[in-house]
Amino acid sequence: MLTYEKLDFNALNRADFLKFVEIEQNCGLDDPYPPELIFEILEAMDNFVCRADGEIVGFIMMSPKSHYLHGSAYIVNINVAAPWRGQGIAKKLILMACRHYLKTCPEGYMSLDVVKTSRARALYRKIGFGETVIPSRNGPSDLVMAAPMKLLEKNLIRLTEA
Ligand SMILES: CC(C)(COP(=O)(O)OP(=O)(O)OC[C@H]1O[C@@H](n2cnc3c(N)ncnc32)[C@H](O)[C@@H]1OP(=O)(O)O)[C@@H](O)C(=O)NCCC(=O)NCCS
Repeated sequence: MLTYEKLDFNALNRADFLKFVEIEQNCGLDDPYPPELIFEILEAMDNFVCRADGEIVGFIMMSPKSHYLHGSAYIVNINVAAPWRGQGIAKKLILMACRHYLKTCPEGYMSLDVVKTSRARALYRKIGFGETVIPSRNGPSDLVMAAPMKLLEKNLIRLTEA
């Protein structure tokens, strides 16, 4: 059974931390985050996880602020373990994050950096993210996408809860 929750850093155990490290190392991207950075992000950011029978199979790491856009939360990292992809887990994690920030920021935006050639770009477009002309801090290989969280929530409810 799949369950979703906002991670409580103070309750983080070793098995959970090692799952973050394993999923990140096997994500297929060129420059996965090292374990030390994962630990720092877990401590400093808002993190939401999906578990299958208790074991973490996907996560989203969120910053409540973006350096690109005022009034925007920012997706630091989103990752679903390869055997679990294509089942709507990423969409549900983004929906959870939207709902979390909409409580205090109903007109807020969400933004992210994405590698232009990545398959994730199609996912973001499908759920309502638009491509901006803001230069990515990762260089020309990436672009910055953004969307109002209200719009994302509406689209994600349709796509995941229909
Ligand atoms: C991108 C990622 C988080 C999507 O997670 P997911 O749970 O498979 O996504 P969902 O099931 O909610 O949505 C599937 C969509 O994601 C996109 N997608 C991207 N990579 C995919 C993959 N390897 N397998 C299946 N779908 C993928 C497709 O557009 C797909 O569209 P569809 O709904 O029309 O089939 C996941 O593929 C992943 O972890 N990739 C490696 C890390 C990564 O690229 N992170 C994003 C950095 S910006």
